[in-house]
Amino acid sequence: MAHVALADFLAELDRLQADAESAFQQAADADAVEAARIEFLGAKSGRLKSVQKGLGAVGKDDKPAAGKRFNEVKQAIDAAFEAAQNRAKAGPALRAGTPEFDPTLPGRRPRLGHLHPITQTIEDLKEIMGRLGFTVTEGPEIEDEWHNFEALNIPAEHPARDPLENFYLSTAQALAKSTAPASAATGEPPLLLRSQTSTVQIRVMENTPPPVRIISLGRVYRPDTADATHCPMFHQIEGLLVDRRVTMADLKSVLRLFARSFFGGDVHIRFRPSFFPFTEPSVEVDMSWHDRWIEMGGAGMVDPNVLKAVGYDPEEVTGFAFGLGVERVCARRHHVTDIREFYKNDVRFLEQF
Ligand code: FA5
Repeated sequence: MAHVALADFLAELDRLQADAESAFQQAADADAVEAARIEFLGAKSGRLKSVQKGLGAVGKDDKPAAGKRFNEVKQAIDAAFEAAQNRAKAGPALRAGTPEFDPTLPGRRPRLGHLHPITQTIEDLKEIMGRLGFTVTEGPEIEDEWHNFEALNIPAEHPARDPLENFYLSTAQALAKSTAPASAATGEPPLLLRSQTSTVQIRVMENTPPPVRIISLGRVYRPDTADATHCPMFHQIEGLLVDRRVTMADLKSVLRLFARSFFGGDVHIRFRPSFFPFTEPSVEVDMSWHDRWIEMGGAGMVDPNVLKAVGYDPEEVTGFAFGLGVERVCARRHHVTDIREFYKNDVRFLEQF
């Protein structure tokens, strides 16, 4: 075999490597990759094979350098082949050396979240009552007994104040003495998670001279066993209107307007005589659609004792108040039969709203 100069052999290897890398780089699909493989790596007549034959013709002293470079080139071509194969498998975006972004592909829509159905209901209620002239106020979820009971005409011996009916809190000092109820041991005023939003009526009237026209929406807490219509934490909307010559007729009109705007024209509303310590007379508010009546909340004329407790003159002003359960209102609107569904955090349920 004719002698081959090392320099020529190395130059040929360089050419081979450049050609092979460029061919694999440009191979746009599996067929093109295979064609390049046969051309460069084919076992019988591939170009690498034929260059390898030239290795035998390199002078004996140059063999180690030539062999070393040959192996490097072989590895580089193998790597280029492998990369081209992977690109062909990965799909059009990665093929043919195109960058990873393919502007011709349709975009992928990100999944958008939305407000929780209870939050949506709260927003709707605010909007409807806002149109009737009610402004939104807020009150604390941790309350004292004055605002949750006493000012609402619920005296100390009233069963509604039973620790078993409420979530009383252990204060830090009481915990240190580790006896319950907290206040008895320490003299601290007892605190509890509010059991109704009627607390906000008191807070507003204490700080505002009449007339008052507010709503308040928020969480309330009761140790109720959870069932289809009860949760231990739920939301109420409280409404309060105090002015001269406010009557039950005004209460009924406002609630009917509210119900029609929220549920539509086919809702009926009725008042059933009831009792709340802070309203006199008191009613349960039921709503119905063609057939069944559902209790939505309580309402009534603000008891004169409550007006006195906040420094209003019951001879001068009268008022009405109502409190409705937001979960029940929301459930009825969306035909949900069990309010516990709202708090399971099941996306399959929540994404339907
Ligand atoms: C009250 O809480 C009174 N504060 C309402 C009121 C306000 C009367 C102003 C007069 C004047 P009641 O305990 O009935 O009333 O609760 C009102 C509504 O809250 C119920 O009709 C119901 O819709 C809802 N509710 C009561 N308990 C639960 C519960 N555990 N889970 C879900 N909703 C509840």
